[in-house]
Order: sequence, then structure tokens, then C-alpha cells
Amino acid sequence: MLTTKFTETFGVRHPIVQGGMQWVGRAELVAAVANSGALGMLTALTQPTPEALAKEIARTRDLTDQPFGVNLTILPSITPPPYDEYRQVIIDAGIKIVETAGSNPGPHLPQFHAAGIKVLHKCTSVRHAVKAQELGVDGISIDGFECAGHPGEDDIPGLVLIAAAAEKITIPMVASGGFGDARGLVAALALGADGINMGTRFMCTEESPIHQNIKEAIVAAKETDTELIFRPLRNTARVASNAVSREVVQILNDGGQFPDVQELVSGARGRTVYENGDPEAGIWSVGTVQGIIHDIPSAGDLVERIVTEAKDIIQSRLGDMLERVSV
Ligand SMILES: Cc1cc2nc3c(=O)[nH]c(=O)nc-3n(C[C@H](O)[C@H](O)[C@H](O)COP(=O)(O)O)c2cc1C
Repeated sequence: MLTTKFTETFGVRHPIVQGGMQWVGRAELVAAVANSGALGMLTALTQPTPEALAKEIARTRDLTDQPFGVNLTILPSITPPPYDEYRQVIIDAGIKIVETAGSNPGPHLPQFHAAGIKVLHKCTSVRHAVKAQELGVDGISIDGFECAGHPGEDDIPGLVLIAAAAEKITIPMVASGGFGDARGLVAALALGADGINMGTRFMCTEESPIHQNIKEAIVAAKETDTELIFRPLRNTARVASNAVSREVVQILNDGGQFPDVQELVSGARGRTVYENGDPEAGIWSVGTVQGIIHDIPSAGDLVERIVTEAKDIIQSRLGDMLERVSV
């Protein structure tokens, strides 16, 4: 066992989180992660309505009796989803862990805390992590520039971001972005984190509810095969490199605005990638860590492998170095 402030506070066996993933964070994957002893997150907004989220929570409970959480991604939008109703479903279902992301978790904290829910807030900068800690969240997940999805606009990779955050954060902190194996977990712990959060690596597991072609595309891809879209709009997202994402980058670099790429980046189109297995069909999130993903294990085998190898690295590889130094 690797016991950390994170495992103790959030009541899970292993210091590993499967972060919220639009279209991917569904019952099958979340339950498999929970059964492995790590912390899985259903993704609230993958469900079209709050009622559908209630059903997905029930479906997950049919597959596991272990703790799992729900991700609530709060993004600025012209037509926002009914966040308060999703929040109420989470509370009414008796969920005890929530991952917030996207913007200030403050408006939701009193209700979550009144219901005894622990909030893990995911952010991409030290200043936002400090702000969330001051607001009273129970844990921080800090996402470096390597990550899939939204890395923010500061472009600070994990090696510095995690260490810088560790200097300011006193509550449990999980390092995110670019983690996929035991080497990453040990590095994160060495930098001052209490665990790791992974998205891309969990996408590429047997239980991940996406087309096999996409899992194989991730295994085949290199760390350089991602694009940063929406940079000129200051809403950067890291996605798989394909003809669609490269066209989006080109249009925006040439001075185009969001309406010029709206059809190319539509969520519905991205969703067909996972359903039909054509990696060129639209925009889909993936991180640079794909360059070190070489297989498609079950989520349980993955977590077991990471924890076992991490202990081996700490005890044998690093321990041996210590022995040699002290001789
Ligand atoms: C397919 C996919 C969808 C994602 N969707 C969301 C989301 O809806 N909300 C969120 O907070 N993070 C989302 N993320 C980010 C992950 O939760 C996690 O922070 C990120 O993947 C970590 O970086 P990694 O992919 O290098 O492990 C998504 C990531 C992926 C790969």
C-alpha cells in the first residue's frame, strides 16, 4: 500500500484518480477503477440531463460497492447546463466525493460540504490552487501543460508546476497531466504531490467505453501527436492531432474567430470519434502521455501495475542508490 494524505482524506486504497472525461467517464470505467482501489469519477455533463446522471450513478453502484466520485465541470457558456440541478442529483444520490473543474468552485461548496461531500478541485495554476484552498476545498488536483483537455494559458509543465504548488498547498494535492505509469507516480510524490490524476491513460483501458480503434490510435501515437487548439481565443485545449484539429489551428492563426471553426469543433462530431472509431472524424482530447502508452490493460491491472512498480522503484531502484551513497 502507498498511503498518502490523499488516500487518507478521500478514503481510497491507492493514490490514483481517474479524472472526469467527457463521453468517457461512464459507469463501466468508473466502477472498474473503483474496484481497483483507485478513485474513479463519473462525468456529470456526459449525461444529457440531471435525471440521466441519477441513473448513471445507480448503474455504477450496480457494478461496484467501492467509493467513486462525480466530476462537475463548470465552464462559462452562453447556454449553461443546469449546474444546480446536477449538483442536487449528486447530493441526493449520496455521492461523497466531487471533482470540480473549469472555474471557481465557490458557489457550489456550501451545498456540497453541508451534505458531507469532499471536493477535489482541479485547476491549472498555482494561483487558482491557492484560491481554491482558501475557499475551503478538501483537495487540489493540479493539471500541468502536458495534460489532455484544458491546460490553461500559462504553459507550465508539471515538473515546475507541481513543485511550485507543493510549496503553497497544505491540503492533499494530486498531480495531473502526463501521468501514465509508476515512474510518473513516484516522480509526483517526490515533487510533493500526494497522488496522481490520469485521463488519457484510463481512456486506453479495456473498460473505457470508447471504440477499440481509438485506443489503438493512442497506443500508436507519439508524444508529439497533439495540437493546441483555441490558443488565440485564450481557451486552449490539447487534442489529438488530425486533419480537423490542424485545420482549426490554421483558421484561428489566420485570424478566424470561433464561428469560423464552430462546426469543426462541435461536441457531437467529437463524440462520433469514440462511437464509430474514426480518429479523423472530429476533435477529441488526448494528452502528450500517449507517447508512453503501449498497451490496453484492464483498469484493475493498470492500477495494480502502477502501484506495484512504484513500490519497486522506491524500495529497489532508489533504495539501492541510497545504499551505494552511504557505503
Ligand atoms: C477524453 C477526455 C475528456 C476530458 N474531459 C474532461 C471534462 O469533461 N472535465 C474535466 O474536468 N476534465 C476533462 N479531461 C481532463 C482529465 O480529467 C485530466 O485532467 C487530464 O486528462 C489529465 O491529463 P492526462 O490526459 O495527461 O492524464 C478530459 C480528458 C480526456 C482525455
